[in-house]
Amino acid sequence: MAETSTQSSGRPSLPMQGVPQPRRDEVLNLPRVHISSHPVLADKLTALRDKHTSVPEFYRLVQEIGALLAYEATASLVLEPYAVETPMESMVGQRLAGGIGITPILRAGLGLAEGFRQVIPDAQIWHLGLRRDEETLQALEYYNRLPHTVDLQVCYAVDPMLATGGSAIDAINVLKRRGIPRLSYVGIIAAPYGLLKLAQTHPDIDIYIGALDDNLNDRGYILPGLGDAGDRQFGTF
Ligand code: PRP
Ligand code: URA
Repeated sequence: MAETSTQSSGRPSLPMQGVPQPRRDEVLNLPRVHISSHPVLADKLTALRDKHTSVPEFYRLVQEIGALLAYEATASLVLEPYAVETPMESMVGQRLAGGIGITPILRAGLGLAEGFRQVIPDAQIWHLGLRRDEETLQALEYYNRLPHTVDLQVCYAVDPMLATGGSAIDAINVLKRRGIPRLSYVGIIAAPYGLLKLAQTHPDIDIYIGALDDNLNDRGYILPGLGDAGDRQFGTF
């Protein structure tokens, strides 16, 4: 994604320094992008952003927001008829047509995936480790536990922060190579820059986010954001 440039002094500049970014209002109505308007999510997100929120509380909030986003992101899943005996009589109910996968983008996606599991306990968890190089902002893959056999109707790539979009784009590339019929990305906070990149690179996926923030700072951190989502979940400051 963003490339490290060099100033005339020879010193490397910060990776997002001088990079043009779209405004928030320019990306508000992208096709297949869903920005939550759930008031409970908005309330929890404010607590999540608060720099005084403790590590255990932060992790708990990420899980709770994950469950709310899972509820929204699964609203259009496909159902199939399913015969069931109630204590009273037989009926034809419905059940989900095909398995569901969750890919937490390590490590910050772990808390979000736990929230998803509260809504879909029998989902398969496909771990994918991507680490953003803080100088170049390129995502580097370091772990991949995706199964070879795919029997899913949908897989959700989950990661709290969509900043430059590099990690999300790479994760979807990896999942697409597995031939999953339907893919979605779910995040808590997006920057306009990363949201536009992801939507343009992968126009065939649905994108669910909790909030759209203002922009990225010169180091590629989301403003106002919440800081480093991985460090705040796992206490690694
Ligand atoms: C963070 C975040 C995303 C990525 C977003 O992870 O959780 O994966 O950065 O940035 P991008 O949109 O510019 O790619 P990080 O690489 O810091 O790893 P971590 O989850 O281990 O903290
Ligand atoms: N990753 C984070 O954890 N936070 C940001 O603001 C950007 C990337």
